[in-house]
Amino acid sequence: MAKMSPLLMTLLFIVLSSMMMNQLPVASSKKWCVATPTATEKQLGDNMEFACAIGVDCRPIMPSGACFLPNTTLSHASFLMNSYFQSHDQTDHACYFFFPDSSIITTTDPSYDRCIYPSH
Ligand SMILES: *[C@@H]1O[C@H](CO)[C@@H](O)[C@H](O)[C@H]1NC(C)=O
Repeated sequence: MAKMSPLLMTLLFIVLSSMMMNQLPVASSKKWCVATPTATEKQLGDNMEFACAIGVDCRPIMPSGACFLPNTTLSHASFLMNSYFQSHDQTDHACYFFFPDSSIITTTDPSYDRCIYPSH
């Protein structure tokens, strides 16, 4: 049996471990905050107003923005609430608005088409 050089062994080890790591369900650090479908229009409206008033970029949900469609309160509120959450370092309380049940933290990326929900 041919002897492998230590360098080759090391490289092989790195390649194999990174292949395995990609398959393991490694906990992702990416988190998003979205609106819950059970929240009322009024609750989500208040959350959106708050986010926009505090300095979140609300242009993406405007008619010319990438996140305008679907033109629903649920979709628009989710985008803005997530932006607020991200601008506050994803701390749990930044996904806690006036109505606790109106928002939830998720590890599933809500982005679609050209509407990219930031996460860091
Ligand atoms: C978006 O939805 C709101 C509320 O339903 C409606 O008033 C508005 O006309 C809609 N805008 C467009 C461009 O469809």
